[in-house]
Amino acid sequence: METYDVIIIGAGPGGYVCAIRAGQLGLKAALVEKDSALGGTCLNVGCIPSKALLESSELFHQARHGLSVHGIEPASVKLNLPQMMARKGSIVKELTDGIALLMKKNKVTVIKGTGILKAPGRVAVQDAEGEREIAAKAVVLATGSVPVQLPFLPFDGVRVVTSTEALAFDQVPQSLVVIGAGAIGLEMGSVWNRLGAKVTVIELLPRVAPFADAQMSTLLERALKAQGMVFKLNCKVSGAAAEGEKVTVNFQNDKGEAESVACDRLLVAVGRKPNSIAAGIREAGVELAEAGRVKVDGRFQTNLPGVYAIGDLIRGPMLAHKAMEEGVALAEILAGKPGHVNYDAVPNVVYTHPELACAGLTEEQCKEQGIPVRTGKFYFKANGRAKSLGSEEGMTKVIAHAETDKLLGVHIVGPRASDMIAEAVAVMEFGGSAEDIGRTCHAHPTLSEVLKEAALNVDKRAIHG
Ligand code: NAI
Repeated sequence: METYDVIIIGAGPGGYVCAIRAGQLGLKAALVEKDSALGGTCLNVGCIPSKALLESSELFHQARHGLSVHGIEPASVKLNLPQMMARKGSIVKELTDGIALLMKKNKVTVIKGTGILKAPGRVAVQDAEGEREIAAKAVVLATGSVPVQLPFLPFDGVRVVTSTEALAFDQVPQSLVVIGAGAIGLEMGSVWNRLGAKVTVIELLPRVAPFADAQMSTLLERALKAQGMVFKLNCKVSGAAAEGEKVTVNFQNDKGEAESVACDRLLVAVGRKPNSIAAGIREAGVELAEAGRVKVDGRFQTNLPGVYAIGDLIRGPMLAHKAMEEGVALAEILAGKPGHVNYDAVPNVVYTHPELACAGLTEEQCKEQGIPVRTGKFYFKANGRAKSLGSEEGMTKVIAHAETDKLLGVHIVGPRASDMIAEAVAVMEFGGSAEDIGRTCHAHPTLSEVLKEAALNVDKRAIHG
């Protein structure tokens, strides 16, 4: 029987990164994947293709509405959706092929097939040729997550869809209803809104991106509304009826009245759930916690000896970079090193325009936890680079402990917030203070100066505002 130090089931960001780190540390690793391309949801039908379409659709929007202010008058702007989709496809292919190369480089054996945990140390691989068993000291479950389906609204893949289909519509729907104003709803809603669809987002809670600092949710909602997206917040969807080419979504609005909206396509983006019905997880007796998440200890071990789990399957936010960190930490633990993930410093980004990026505690969470804080804010409209970019919407909020000045949270709505948040995360990782950011020299003119000024404003001493 083929024997390894570690067998990883699932080649998403958690699994493939765990395999690379295991290889780097000299472990004999096997990565079992049922799909033809490596990379999981993130690379194939998630983070990467959505970012490709967000970029293309933003350029289209800018070409139509944002160039004349620069003195550029394009004669005509035409959408070539097949080309936009082809570009997305080639980016995905290059990256997934790149992962296959990284596996070779790190001497990871890639096994194509469905991995089934039989018992601690034993995995069956099923493929077109049948089933064979492989063995290892450690087995890592990294099977990710799947979209949540509303019980009264089954996906049909054409009219009622998940993000997978919404990334590949063959034409721009005239009208798109999105259920859920989380990351997927806002990102995919933005893409199709920019390409010309009339987009209505229905959200159960009273604000968009409910995980974010409340002030940031308000700023983002305002910006997206100005772009033409319609939000129905505090609304409860009760059902939907398909009739010919249309779907009518029925819901109770924020006043408790019955309302409905008809659309060509309906995207249900109400969250994802751990894919713990896969890979023989339940049959093998792996203990589950709430909502089907696999229960693990501080070293990612399940109740079964030598069986570990990482990523969307376990506790914490369902984010690719969180899964990657866990993959690295677990490989290091398996190699006898002290692997560790700091869950207090995991950034969260929504790639709309402007972007939303945050790390650490929100102002509401600090209040709930009775932590005394001081906050500093700074607006992008007072930043020279943001003005030059023509992207002045939004602000940065820095939250620091009122007594120690320790950096507790940073929240940004603005251009390239996704890149700016990295600085805040690094300072949090080192246990730094708001003053540490305020006293750090930032290049001028850059967007990063907004973070510096917001940090200075914790002490009410921003230079430009
Ligand atoms: P989500 O959890 O981010 O948002 C789901 C939204 O749906 C929430 O606002 C929730 O209140 C709302 N909702 C739930 N039930 C509802 C109902 N019956 N009617 C109306 N609204 C309802 O989940 P989403 O957007 O589906 O994304 C899934 C996962 O993928 C998340 O964990 C997310 O973080 C991750 N993701 C991350 C991205 C990023 O990092 N940029 C991009 C896309 C997804």
